[in-house]
Amino acid sequence: MSYLAALFPVPKPSETLPLLPLRDIVLLPGITLPVVAGRSRSVASAEASALSSERQLIVAAVRPDAAARLAANETAEVEHLEDLYPIATLATIQRMVRLPMGPIQLILQGQERVRLEQLHLTETAYEVKFQRLPKPNQASEAASATIQALKEAIQSLWREIASLNPNFPEEVLAVLLRGDDPAELAYQTCMLLQLEVEQTQAVLEQDNLESLLRQMLADLSHEVEVQRLRGEILGETKKEIDQQQREFFLRQQLKKIQEELGELEPETQELEELRSRLAAANLPEVAEKQAKRELARLERVGSSSAEGGVIRTYLDWLLEMPWNKIVQDNLDLQNARAVLDADHYGLSKVKDRIIEHLATFRLKQQQQAAQPEISLSPSGERVAPASVKPAQPMAVGTVLCFTGPPGVGKTSLGRSIARALGRPFERISLGGLRDEAELRGHRRTYIGAMPGRIVQALHRAGVKNPVIMLDELDKVGMDYRGDPASVLLEILDPQQNFCFRDLYLDLDFDLSQVFFIGTANDLNRIPAPLLDRLELIELSGYSDQEKEAIALTYLLPRQLEKAGLPLDAVQLPPATLRQVIEFYTREAGVRRLEQQLGALCRKVAVRYAMDQPQPLLIHPEQLEEMLGPKVFLREETRKVPRPGVATGLAWTLAGGDVLFVEAVQLPKGKNLILTGHLGEVMEESAQIAYSYVWSHAAELGIDAKVFRDNSIHIHVPSGAVPKDGPSAGVTMVTAIASLLTGRPVRTDTAMTGEINLSGEVLPIGGVREKVMAACRAGLRRVLLPVQNQKDLVDVPGDVCNQLDYIFCGTIEQVLQNALLPVAEPPAPLLTGDGRPTTMPSRLSGPDPSVPSSQQPATT
Ligand SMILES: Nc1ncnc2c1ncn2[C@@H]1O[C@H](COP(=O)(O)OP(=O)(O)OP(=O)(O)O)[C@@H](O)[C@H]1O
Ligand SMILES: [Mg+2]
Repeated sequence: MSYLAALFPVPKPSETLPLLPLRDIVLLPGITLPVVAGRSRSVASAEASALSSERQLIVAAVRPDAAARLAANETAEVEHLEDLYPIATLATIQRMVRLPMGPIQLILQGQERVRLEQLHLTETAYEVKFQRLPKPNQASEAASATIQALKEAIQSLWREIASLNPNFPEEVLAVLLRGDDPAELAYQTCMLLQLEVEQTQAVLEQDNLESLLRQMLADLSHEVEVQRLRGEILGETKKEIDQQQREFFLRQQLKKIQEELGELEPETQELEELRSRLAAANLPEVAEKQAKRELARLERVGSSSAEGGVIRTYLDWLLEMPWNKIVQDNLDLQNARAVLDADHYGLSKVKDRIIEHLATFRLKQQQQAAQPEISLSPSGERVAPASVKPAQPMAVGTVLCFTGPPGVGKTSLGRSIARALGRPFERISLGGLRDEAELRGHRRTYIGAMPGRIVQALHRAGVKNPVIMLDELDKVGMDYRGDPASVLLEILDPQQNFCFRDLYLDLDFDLSQVFFIGTANDLNRIPAPLLDRLELIELSGYSDQEKEAIALTYLLPRQLEKAGLPLDAVQLPPATLRQVIEFYTREAGVRRLEQQLGALCRKVAVRYAMDQPQPLLIHPEQLEEMLGPKVFLREETRKVPRPGVATGLAWTLAGGDVLFVEAVQLPKGKNLILTGHLGEVMEESAQIAYSYVWSHAAELGIDAKVFRDNSIHIHVPSGAVPKDGPSAGVTMVTAIASLLTGRPVRTDTAMTGEINLSGEVLPIGGVREKVMAACRAGLRRVLLPVQNQKDLVDVPGDVCNQLDYIFCGTIEQVLQNALLPVAEPPAPLLTGDGRPTTMPSRLSGPDPSVPSSQQPATT
């Protein structure tokens, strides 16, 4: 019987206890948990249990679907046994607290596992019939070592977790390490890992102890890994924060040390420095007030702020402006003349004008010096209050302005004037200037605002009376950003310029003591009001002989010095120099010549550096080797006279030039075609010439029918170079008359002059440049308007003597001197006044059906 009983143990009798169903919680044996029961049936069950002597009850987890139903409805209840997981826990109530408003709080301790058998809903509470279950057990005796090993592994992992996590409670660790019941350790581990309901329920249901421990070991290892990673991440973040704290700490220490040593903080030191600079600057009253205001503001905002930076820059400008600093002028005119002569060759008329100007300037200064407003400073400087209006403003037109082609020495003359006066020289290049703010500055409200160029130039000069050169006055532009020319007007006007206001400085500055000099290439492009204020001094181009002299006495020594060579290192015989001028430059000035000489000097410098330190005599043949192939070949004068081609003279910004006018007759149409990039005025000259020849056709021996039946095309090469001006009038008339009469134009003759419909020849400008161009081109005769005869005095003697001049008052005289007779038959007939001419005949004129380039040349 006992044997049978051992084989088939009699099932224990079922027991009945109140049931507390729980959502979201599984109570494991040996674990104590607080829970809250709210629903009336649960509360009644708990109360029933609490009243019993054992205070026992069954705690069962609700399955997910039933849990969802309960969650959705406050009054829903567990209805069937299937709503619950089948394995539950027998628990004892440790404490029960009734909270206001119904629910009760219980502290439950799990005791052992049970299997639910039957659910019974009494009138008010739950009751459940159940069987107690044994503890999870090891499968065999042999497994006990494994169980022990697993238990110890779990405990060591808990130790590691505690070491990774400084907040891990020591008592908890002690409990985990002390207990020797492996199942309890597994349940505690499960609780502490806070697993999901389903996982915890699976732990509760596990009967096999080894499996239970293995499962817990796996979960715990995962947790250790997570903790370790978290530790690493936190460690890195902490390191960064530690570094910042360290720096802060060091800075605090540094500050302390500086205080101990009596060194001021940089910020205070800076303010102190600005204050002492302000005190020493001796600013005019208004400026000083402004500076003090800004200094106070700087103190408020702190100099390390962005605004502080802006204020500091402003104060730097304000304090460094030469409000009262003046250099004494050297008004010794003899000295001035000597300086001008030392720096520039020739230009005697220009130098005279400059000396005259300086003389009046000197007289005016003496007048001003007598004014009481101007006093002597303790240091002996003449000091004038910043905004004193000169008692006698200088007369309009006192600003010097040099005009002329590039490279003739305008800028360098300005420099010489400054040197002669002993004033600093500053140059403001106005080329391409379109923005008014460039001259007048930007308001400080703009980011990166700066003073305008005028104030910048004064700042660089360091005195309030420098020589300021306004270079390239004619290149000032205008657009939506304002009109810089109007600012120039103000600057150059003595009535206004004693209180020039730069928008950045925002204070008046006195410009009346500044010696302004302007330069321009083209007077036509200077606005008239500005032109009114200028005293113009014209510089024209140099002749080849003048260029040779300038090159030898000024340019070559300067370039030798620049190249670091002794003064005799380069020897240029006249023939070589002439070739440099003729084939490597084409200009009115000497800038390119200077560059070419510089190139020669550099070539020689290389030889010197490579151990051949002997002077080098440069022969003309060596030039190609040293400067490369010839850059300019003189435009060959057209050797073969041909009807319809006349040689004119033009004035360009680069000096004078020879220009050809070509006319051909077209078989069709009846108008005038003009090509060659001609300006409006030049086109009108062509029209006048055309009309003149037509209206005088009979006198000239031309069949007027030509004008009705044929077009005439006039072209002025080079086609791409724009040309304008009235002075090609005589050349146009000559070309047309030559074409239609068949009489070629003399190839040794150039001409220039404006014409009108009455047949008069009117004077033109640029005689000197044009005559020099004719000479350069190898021509012999020049036809000029009668009224230009007086201008020949300007032409250098060497040029003047090489040419024959014929002065014409009428077109008739021009044609008479320019046209050759028709050499071939029909023989020229004599007109009434004995001039040779041709009969109006198809034979004598060019055959309209044959292009002019194929016409036989007649001489
Ligand atoms: N008469 C001269 N004597 C000596 N050197 C001269 C003379 N004329 C010009 N130069 C020199 O030629 C060079 C060019 O002159 P500068 O720069 O003054 O020309 P510029 O007239 O101002 O030309 P741009 O119109 O192009 O500004 C300078 O090195 C200058 O010293
Ligand atoms: Mg210049």
